[in-house]
Parts: sequence; C-alpha cells; structure tokens
Amino acid sequence: MKKALITGITGQTGSYLAELLVDKGYKVFGLIRRASVERHERISHILDKITLLQGDLLDQYSLIEAVKKSNPDEVYNLAAQSFVPTSWNQPVLTAEFTSVGVTRMLEAIRLMKKDAKFYQASSSEMFGATEESPQNERTRFHPRSPYGVAKVYGYWITVNYRESYDMFNCNGILFNHESPRRGLEFVTRKVTNAVAMIKLGMADELLLGNLEARRDWGFAGDYVKAIWLMLQQDKPDDYVIGTGEMHSVKELCEVAFSYAGLNYEDYVKVDKAFYRPAEVDKLMADSSKARKVLGWKPSVSFKELIEMMVDADIERLKNKK
Ligand code: NAP
Ligand code: GDD
Repeated sequence: MKKALITGITGQTGSYLAELLVDKGYKVFGLIRRASVERHERISHILDKITLLQGDLLDQYSLIEAVKKSNPDEVYNLAAQSFVPTSWNQPVLTAEFTSVGVTRMLEAIRLMKKDAKFYQASSSEMFGATEESPQNERTRFHPRSPYGVAKVYGYWITVNYRESYDMFNCNGILFNHESPRRGLEFVTRKVTNAVAMIKLGMADELLLGNLEARRDWGFAGDYVKAIWLMLQQDKPDDYVIGTGEMHSVKELCEVAFSYAGLNYEDYVKVDKAFYRPAEVDKLMADSSKARKVLGWKPSVSFKELIEMMVDADIERLKNKK
C-alpha cells in the first residue's frame, strides 16, 4: 500500500486529491494546523479513511515529525496562503507560508525520507504580466503580487533541491481551478454564491472588482488527476495544467446569472475596493506537454463548471433556509 502525505488537505484541492488517493488505495496522511474550531468540512466524508497529523508550514520540527510518522512514498505540498489580495495585506506571512514553507517541507523530506516523491503547488500567477500567450513551461515569470513572487521562490527551491540533492521533485504550474468547494472569496464562487442568494431572495446585488480580467478556469476534480500523474512518471519534471480557454469575469457573470434565469447587469455593480494594486489581466494555459507526456486532459467545460457551482450553491442555501 502506497503512502502519501498531503499538506493543505483541508483546502479545496487537497480535499479532491485526498479522495482520489483514497480511491486508488493509498494510505493518506493529511497535515493540519491547530485551530480553536476544527475546519474539516471539505474532508468530513473521508475522515474515517485518512490520518490527520498536526503541523504547520511555519514550524520545522512539526514537518519533520509528520514525514517521520507518515514515512511517505509521495508528498503533495498544497498548503499555502492562497488568496492573492491577502498577500498585499500580509506579505511577510505569505512569504513565510508560501515561500519558506516549501523549503521547510523539502528539508523535512531530505532529512527523513529523501526518496519520497515531492509535488509543489506552483501557480499560473507566476506568469503575471508576461507578454507571451498562451503560457507554457518555458514562459518567463513576471509575478504581480506578493503571492506570485512567493510562488516563484517555491518553484525555484523545488527545482534547486531536485538539482542539488537528486530528489524527485515536480512543479505543477496550475491555472485557476474551481469547484463547489472553492473558498467563498474567490471570484467564481463569489459569483455563484451570489447568484444562488439572489435567486432565493436572500440578496439583491453583487459587488465585484475588475470585470475585464481574464482567466483559464478549470475543474479542481480534473486537476488533481494531473497532479497525481506527475508523480507516477519515471523522471521528475514541471508541467503547466489548464484548459487552454480564457474567459472574462464579465462572461463568468453572464453564464452564472443566465443559468439561473437572471440578467447579471441588473445585479452586478463595480466596487473599486475589489481592484488590486497590480492586476494580472489575462492568463491562458498551453498544457500541450502535460497532454502529451501525462496523457491528461480536462473533462469539464467552463460552462459546465459554473453551472455545477450554481447548482451546488442553490442546493446548499435551500437546505439552510
Ligand atoms: P485553499 O483552499 O486556500 O487551501 C489552502 C490550504 O493550506 C488549507 O488546507 C490551509 O489550511 C492550508 N494552510 C495554509 N497555511 C498553512 C500553514 N501555515 N500550515 C499548514 N497548512 C496551511 O487553496 P487551494 O485552492 O486548495 O489551493 C491549493 C494549493 O494550490 C495552494 O498552494 C495554492 O496556492 C495552489 N494553487 C491553487 C490554484 C487554484 O486555482 N486553486 C492554482 C494554482 C496554485 P486551513 O484549512 O487550516 O486554512
Ligand atoms: N476575488 C475576487 N473578488 N476577484 C475578483 C473580483 C472580486 O470581487 N472582481 C474581479 N475579480 C478578478 C480579480 O481581479 C482577478 O483578476 C480574477 O477575478 C480572479 O481572481 P480570484 O478568483 O481571486 O483568483 P486569482 O486568479 O487571483 O488567484 C487564484 O488562481 C491562482 C492561479 O492563477 C488563486 O487560487 C491562487 O491561489 C492561484 O494561484
């Protein structure tokens, strides 16, 4: 039985990855940080099938202990401060989690289980203001937020430990991936949750920032398959994962509101408070390497994804009413 350690298991993507690995027969360990109230909603349905270990990316000893206790064949480092706007409010903490946290995790593996395969959750935010479109593994990074800068560090330290210590380290450069489990502050979920609230008479407007921003949005359940495939290859490497399609926030609103029989222009208002100090205007993946080498492709379209999220939010809020 293979053993995997997942950091960030309570997050959106970590919860889908844990499900996938449990289904594949892995013994799954998840790193969780201590909180006064437990936040296990996304993994409550598999809690009896996984083992949780307390630890924090800020605490080196706890990571060493987690690797020692789990003795993993594979380590998936998904934990991070992942919300871009927060990275301007808490730039130092973001760097501690999202940059140096990666080094701490790599050090724990180097000391305790050097042959474990390692996945780093790198991000399309690293491309930021790049001129090149679509972006692939050779595209130059130009991050536009403290989060993006922190992820560039995480990317390079992962490459550096591969080259310095011959460790099996992979970077997945993932474009935006969403699901009904997405955090409520991210734009897709903010929109689908608002659509559900408006539809059920619980709200009458939605305040958003830059409606012209464009992203390559895919389904998190598809992307965890690519993550797993990266660690099943003979050699460690880095891969871009995305759909290859780009849509604006305005189009996202159109799809979500019209699915519920509403016109977004009647409800959406622009509030400059949601604009960012430096914006990433557009991102679109060229994931031809992953498609060729990993045999991976997405199965859920943009429209299907947004409709799935609207359905899930309406269902959840109806049950709450
Ligand atoms: P998420 O929902 O925000 O989850 C983040 C996870 O990290 C949570 O489990 C959180 O635990 C944990 N965490 C945060 N700080 C920690 C610390 N100091 N020690 C231990 N755990 C900590 O993020 P996601 O959407 O699942 O994304 C997963 C990873 O992929 C992140 O690294 C993100 O930056 C990266 N990424 C995401 C996307 C995307 O579109 N979703 C795209 C590219 C890359 P709590 O539950 O305790 O807060
Ligand atoms: N969150 C948010 N809220 N974003 C808004 C809003 C709003 O009210 N209005 C417009 N947007 C725009 C943002 O300016 C941005 O251009 C775009 O919508 C997407 O924002 P988010 O959903 O917050 O995601 P992100 O692209 O900044 O970051 C996500 O994807 C990255 C991969 O590219 C996060 O998951 C990161 O962790 C991830 O690395």
